[in-house]
This record gives sequence, C-alpha cells and structure tokens, in this order.
Amino acid sequence: MSVGIDKIGFYTPKFYIDMVDLAHARNEDPNKYLVGIGQTRQAVAPVTQDIVTMAANAAATFLTAEDKQNIEMIIFGTESGIDNSKAAAMYLQNLLELSHEARAFEIKQACYGATAGLQMAVDFVKLHPEASVLVVGADIARYGINTPGEVTQGAGAVAMLVKSNPDLVEIEEPSTFYSEDIMDFWRPLYRSEAIVDGHYSNNMYIDFFTKTWEQYQQKTNQTMNDFDAFLFHLPYTKMGIKALRTILTDDDHSQKIWQEFEAAKKYNAEVGNIYTGSLYLSLLSWLANSTNVKQGNHIGLFSFGSGAQGEFFAGRIGPAKKRLEIKDQVDEMLADRTLLSIDEYEEIFNARKPFESADYQLDTSSENANYYLLGQKNHQLIYKNANEK
Ligand code: CAA
Repeated sequence: MSVGIDKIGFYTPKFYIDMVDLAHARNEDPNKYLVGIGQTRQAVAPVTQDIVTMAANAAATFLTAEDKQNIEMIIFGTESGIDNSKAAAMYLQNLLELSHEARAFEIKQACYGATAGLQMAVDFVKLHPEASVLVVGADIARYGINTPGEVTQGAGAVAMLVKSNPDLVEIEEPSTFYSEDIMDFWRPLYRSEAIVDGHYSNNMYIDFFTKTWEQYQQKTNQTMNDFDAFLFHLPYTKMGIKALRTILTDDDHSQKIWQEFEAAKKYNAEVGNIYTGSLYLSLLSWLANSTNVKQGNHIGLFSFGSGAQGEFFAGRIGPAKKRLEIKDQVDEMLADRTLLSIDEYEEIFNARKPFESADYQLDTSSENANYYLLGQKNHQLIYKNANEK
C-alpha cells in the first residue's frame, strides 16, 4: 500500500518587503541579497497572523467536510510556539472544526518538526489505512532588524493531508537521519528572535546533508541518477545551491537536476524562510512550477532542523491531478500581497503581540484572511473564523 501526501496547501500573510529596498536600507549591494543569498521578497506577518491562524488558512485551502471527519491525528510542527504548555494543534482543531476523535499535539525541533510529523503520519496510516493525518508546519522566522539573518526572515504555513494511495507524493522507505547536539541556531525562552552562528549553521547544514545522503546511497545502492529532482529545506535559496554543488557534476543528468531546482526555489525566494514549512513549500513550488513533473518521478528530500537534526528521504510522484489548481491558488496569493516600505516593515516587526497578562484587542480592520487573531482575554488568545457569523 502506498502512503503519503494526498493534498497540500500554503498560506503566507498579505504583506511583503522587496529585498532591493532592504539592501538599500542596510547599505548592502542588492546583488548580495538577490544573488549571494538568493531571495527576492520576504513575507511580513501582521500581529493578527500567528502560527495557528496561518496553519488554519493553509489547511482551509483544501479540507473538505469528509476530510475533516477522517482526520485521526493533527500534528503541528513549529519553532514559534504560542503557549508554553498547550499545543497549537488544539486551537487548529477548534478553528477548522476537525473531528474530536483525534490525537492532537505539537512537535518542536527547529525547522525539522513537520518532517518528524510527516514520518509519524506515514507510519500511522500504514497501520490504519482508512485514517488520514493533518500535518502542518507554520512559523514566523525572526532574526532582528539590521542583523545578518534579517534577509532570511519570512512567514507562512504549509498543511498536508497524509493518506493511503495519495494523489501527490508517496513517501518511500528507507529514510536516513543524523542528529547531534550543536549550537548553530537556537532561541532561549526569553527571546522572540533566534540566536544564530550563521556561517557555522551553513557548514552544519552541508555536513548533515552529506552524512544522510551518503548513508542513503549505502543503504539503497541508489545514486543521484536515480532521482528526477532534489528538494531541500531552504532557509534561503542559495543554501540549496550550496548543497547541490556538493553532489552535482557537469554531466547531462546534473544539468537536469539544476533545472528542476529552479522551479523548486521559486516560491521560497518570494516568501523567505518559513522554518518547518520550508522544505514543503519547495516541494509545492516544484510541483507547481516545473513543466517536467510526471507520475512516477522519483524525488529526494532533505530536511534540516538546527540544533540539529538532518533527514534524507525519497518520494514518488502520484497522479497529482490538482497540482495546477494549487499553482493558480499560490500564484494569486503571492500576486495579491501588499508591498511595505522598510519603515512600515520595521513598525510591524516591533509591534508584536504583547507578551503580558493584560487583556488586549487588536486592530483587525484590514484583515482579509479567513482566520486571524482578535486579541487576548483572561489570559486566553481569541481567534476569529471569518466564515462564522
Ligand atoms: N553580489 C553577489 N554575491 C554577493 C555579494 C554581491 N555584491 N556580496 C556578497 N555576496 C555573497 C557572498 O559571497 C556569500 O556567498 P557564498 O555563501 O556563496 O560565499 C553570500 O553573498 C552571503 O554573504 P555573507 O556570507 O558575507 O553574508 P552574511 O555573513 O551577511 O550572512 C548568512 C549570511 C550567514 C546566511 C546569514 O544570513 C544568516 O545568519 N542567516 C540565518 C542562518 C541560516 O539561514 N542558516 C542556514 C543554515 S541553518 C538552517 O537551515 C536552519 C534554519 O532554517 C535557520
């Protein structure tokens, strides 16, 4: 029985900044950001969008009433949790009106949480073939104004429905993984911005990719020539280029893999790092933008969560009947965004939802998403489903 991703949905907030504007504001050559980092735009989340609302907006792009009833597990991968105790999956279950006969929980391991969730979901459906699992990765990546990491910020969520006989991608066995306690990127409880040793984190990413890819080749006797595309966790799109350079040569097959990577990085370059969802945004980007996607294509996926955990696994493309519908949806969402000046972005960046016990009400007059945050009352976050009267 094949098990994997049957549906996928994406949401990113309605604001963005242009990387040329950011470069000018930071006295950098724009080509450093556009070429050296490989980012063109960056999503900016208003205070009314957090991981719960972004995940709900992403999942709502595909969930039917029947899907909602069949979901037996809700797995929320995130780096940007909203509560020290309660899982974001609980809020998501309520907002999306999912079945209560479900396990709902959150997974944290930097950018890796959604991959842990996906693998757990696949194992669960193999044991329970009638069940579905909702896996989401949602994050707001914050490094701080005028820091080296600023150009790699972003915000968004990817939601996936995992089922038997999936339409989009069958997830294959085996998968190879490597973990080690390192300090390349972390976020102490008292901080809302990550602490990162940027160049060390780049090196660790490559090191973990090399280790898991070599392990995969040994286990399966497969080589690069057995794959039609390689997809990566993309903290910024140049990181994928750095990883591909370690395995590609100048032969024809390598050229083909480079060409596929162009499609796989398109959306990530316009959104920025969305941590847990980043690899799956790249998958979506490739499915939507490559003209070579065919049923049976074999894809390699590398997931990396600082701290650090790496995993390499493979997928087989299914009939993918709805992939062009998804492309229209995402293209429209990205085209409808509003450009912010750098001053406006800095104001939004600094106006975070208050980390305090007092009640507050947010200005939601310009929200156009289905799900958004209204404020806080009696220490409880209050979310709004705009479809509810
Ligand atoms: N034209 C073209 N290219 C230029 C240029 C110009 N005018 N000026 C500089 N460049 C190039 C540099 O040569 C360099 O390219 P290479 O990496 O290929 O050598 C690139 O632009 C970046 O330049 P720097 O290394 O000088 O940039 P920096 O020190 O200011 O910061 C960074 C880069 C370390 C990635 C920083 O943005 C950062 O810390 N980001 C956050 C951490 C991160 O994303 N790490 C990734 C691995 S960890 C991970 O994946 C988990 C996660 O999601 C966080």
